[in-house]
Amino acid sequence: MGVTAVIGLQWGDEGKGKIVDSLCEHADVVVRCQGGANAGHTIVIDGTEFVLHLIPSGILRDGVTCLIGNGVVLDLEVLDKEIKELAEAGIETSGRLWVSHRTHVVLPVHKQAEAVREELRGDRKLDTTKRGIGPCYSDKFSRLGIRVGDILNPRTLGEKVRTVCAAYHEVQGVEYGVDYDQVMEYCRKYTPMLEAFSADTLGVLAESIAGDKEILLEGSQGFLLDIDHGTYPFVTSSNTGVHGLACGAGLAPSAIDKVVGVVKSYVTRVGEGPMPTLIDEPLQSVIREKGREYGATTGRPRRCGWPDLVALKYSCMLNGVTSIALTKLDTLGGLDELDVCVAYEYHGSLVDTFPADSEFLVDCVPRYVTSATWSELDDVTGVHDLPPGATEYVERILKTAGCELELISIGPGRGELIKVER
Ligand code: GDP
Ligand code: IMO
Ligand code: MG
Repeated sequence: MGVTAVIGLQWGDEGKGKIVDSLCEHADVVVRCQGGANAGHTIVIDGTEFVLHLIPSGILRDGVTCLIGNGVVLDLEVLDKEIKELAEAGIETSGRLWVSHRTHVVLPVHKQAEAVREELRGDRKLDTTKRGIGPCYSDKFSRLGIRVGDILNPRTLGEKVRTVCAAYHEVQGVEYGVDYDQVMEYCRKYTPMLEAFSADTLGVLAESIAGDKEILLEGSQGFLLDIDHGTYPFVTSSNTGVHGLACGAGLAPSAIDKVVGVVKSYVTRVGEGPMPTLIDEPLQSVIREKGREYGATTGRPRRCGWPDLVALKYSCMLNGVTSIALTKLDTLGGLDELDVCVAYEYHGSLVDTFPADSEFLVDCVPRYVTSATWSELDDVTGVHDLPPGATEYVERILKTAGCELELISIGPGRGELIKVER
């Protein structure tokens, strides 16, 4: 028993939801630690697809306690909708789902501010998920934010709301029209939900650790979207790696025993920002359709690229990844060609480290090696059934990552997994 962090090692949508669902077969507690409703985590059970934006994927397993930690930015409307949708599907959240009093709340003005900031960026727009994530985190760090605990404290809420409204009064020549009464009404609308679902999540975690329970930290987004280590400024506004998970759950980093890195067998990216290994058309569209690469939150088509081992090595190194969960190996089955990026060529020099400057990734040319391909993985049930090309590819990934294999996913369904016997 112990604490396992599950993080995406690319640009998000690696299949974290499915991996968390699988790993939490034996878990007691699952925690969402950072990000907000920008996440879309898909789990397919007996043909029914669940897409969770805020509630931890553990909610789909009976008896698992789910926590939304202090590092999340909470969209109250999305949470309310998600709780109702799960109830309609016969999944009980009450008594199992707890939100930290320290969690910051996304207000309608955050979405408005995001639209204005995107407009001001013009051609350099980020193409965000429009969930108010950046402005909510900005207010948190400017010490203007409204937290769940504030909404539950009528004595001080008014004063805090007044301070936010004042801060938004005519910024950058834009009249936001944030109205004190409207913000208060918005907070009051969701007060009963927060009364029912908030708790001292630090206490729940401490008790779980003392009781030798199995705890999973569910990362959202991917490490290359990390605010510090990703392709800045084309990133999200939180620390998406293991550091962000420890802080956002409210745990000592040393409490984390294991770090599972979720790696898609190719790379995808949605929204603006460089991805050097973009696959040429028409093959890119073939992979997009086969892998159903459309955003789980916004429906946007995801750009698809060849595996990038420079980026993988970087993500593994900075997160102390201890094992890899490799997803979508089935999607690459049946291709005539598989290129794997092992270095970048930049102004005539070969570079095998991930750069700080995103512009480098725009200008560099990936240096590929050709990897053997394999046929469809329909009849595969264990690692020993994998065709030679797939085995060679998995070994290449593990060698780059410098760690062991946790599991391989070969389809969206819960059972479509190859577990590794140890
Ligand atoms: P997340 O944000 O990391 O949880 O990933 P998403 O849910 O946004 O995107 C992953 C997509 O791939 C979802 O539609 C999953 O149902 C699907 N998926 C997950 N693992 C596999 C796999 O091994 N094979 C295939 N074909 N689809 C998968
Ligand atoms: P999951 O958890 C893929 C991307 C957006 C945009 C950038 C900033 O499902 O893997 P934001 O709204 O966060 O300010 O947008 O980050 N992005 C994601 N891409 N998967 C996600 O989450 C993402 N969350 C944000 O497309 O490029
Ligand atoms: Mg997703």
